[in-house]
Amino acid sequence: MSRRLGWLALYSLSVTLFTCLLFLKREAKPAQQVGGPVVRHPFWAPAVSHRSLCLPNSEATNASTVLPVRHCLFLTYKHCRNFSTLLQPTGCPAATFLLLAIKSLPAHVDRRAAIRSTWGRVSALRGGQQLKLVFLLGVGGTSPPPQLLVYESQEFDDILQWNFTEDFFNLTLKELHLQRWLATSCPQAQFVLKGDDDVFVHVPNVLEFLEGQDATQDLFVGDVISEALPNRNTRVKYFIPPSMYHAPHYPPYAGGGGYVMSQATVRGLQAAVEEVDLFPIDDVFVGMCLKKLGVKPTHHAGFKTFGIQRPLDPLDPCLYKGLLLVHRLSPLEMWTTWALVKDEGLRCAALPAQAQQPG
Ligand SMILES: *[C@@H]1O[C@H](CO)[C@@H](O)[C@H](O)[C@H]1NC(C)=O
Ligand SMILES: *[C@@H]1O[C@H](CO)[C@@H](O)[C@H](O)[C@H]1NC(C)=O
Ligand SMILES: *[C@@H]1O[C@H](CO)[C@@H](O)[C@H](O)[C@H]1NC(C)=O
Ligand SMILES: *[C@@H]1O[C@H](CO)[C@@H](O)[C@H](O)[C@H]1NC(C)=O
Repeated sequence: MSRRLGWLALYSLSVTLFTCLLFLKREAKPAQQVGGPVVRHPFWAPAVSHRSLCLPNSEATNASTVLPVRHCLFLTYKHCRNFSTLLQPTGCPAATFLLLAIKSLPAHVDRRAAIRSTWGRVSALRGGQQLKLVFLLGVGGTSPPPQLLVYESQEFDDILQWNFTEDFFNLTLKELHLQRWLATSCPQAQFVLKGDDDVFVHVPNVLEFLEGQDATQDLFVGDVISEALPNRNTRVKYFIPPSMYHAPHYPPYAGGGGYVMSQATVRGLQAAVEEVDLFPIDDVFVGMCLKKLGVKPTHHAGFKTFGIQRPLDPLDPCLYKGLLLVHRLSPLEMWTTWALVKDEGLRCAALPAQAQQPG
């Protein structure tokens, strides 16, 4: 008898859970009402969200049918530049010295967790100045349930998500929308470091470098590539046909893995990004905006945006003594490097300084 009761309890519990799930799913559906004053939002969406309808440009589609599908998609939606914000941090501390803006994907929960608990750990700096970490996201891909992003956003206050599809060619939209967010929600940041979610940033070295800089002067530092040739090989991810860019070289630009800029340059970029046509490669797009501004990006050997070349060992803590940023680390390598770098004072103290000077 008690066994039957047990089964009954289990059965009703599962029915309840299932109903809850159905309810959540129903709540999750975007509001379909158009024009009506009452619009129901999914429970995790911010109260204000502007529908950004942007119709495909079929003229561009027709003209680009000879191009790869992705290029075709890019040209079809290139004019769509206004997307609504789905999640955003409550703001930036008033004394934000350095904002760390890291491009991530909804699915990269593990990379964000690794960054938050290693180099991205937010702490107060000398003189009460602050660091602020934000992750830049679009939507889609193999997404975790949206509830998880909402949880991350509430728990860590570091998610900045916009309503455009995640795609390599849409990274320029992240740059554009980041600039708009900086203008409205974090104009006080003295410096901004933009990078990928697989970079290791040696924050103390970056801070040391920035302490000697004036935020009111133009500054744009990274792994600068000059006279890069547009890739004309259709099979390469970075392929750009002459119809999309005809000049022989790209303007000088910093590898998108990570670079640092001053408040003055950020302000200039805020105007420039609105005027320059979207370009599918985001770091080249930033280079185009800098050219328009008349700001020359500065090369610094401490930015290893193409990773560390062998025979150097990326897990050698002494290596990081002179480095600001290293690209392409897995979450596991991020943790290991963090542990080693924290220990570097002990392990590298006896060695002569290996710092590489700006080149
Ligand atoms: C996001 O964009 C899609 C169209 O791509 C739209 O249907 C949806 O309502 C938008 N969501 C929000 C919350 O703005
Ligand atoms: C694009 O091509 C389709 C079919 O090939 C045609 O119906 C449409 O009118 C074209 N659109 C423009 C703007 O040329
Ligand atoms: C985007 O918004 C700006 C102003 O907020 C407006 O001038 C522009 O026309 C919009 N563009 C599109 C394609 O909706
Ligand atoms: C970029 O995002 C927009 C909006 O979600 C989408 O329509 C477009 O297809 C995306 N572009 C690419 C190249 O995937």
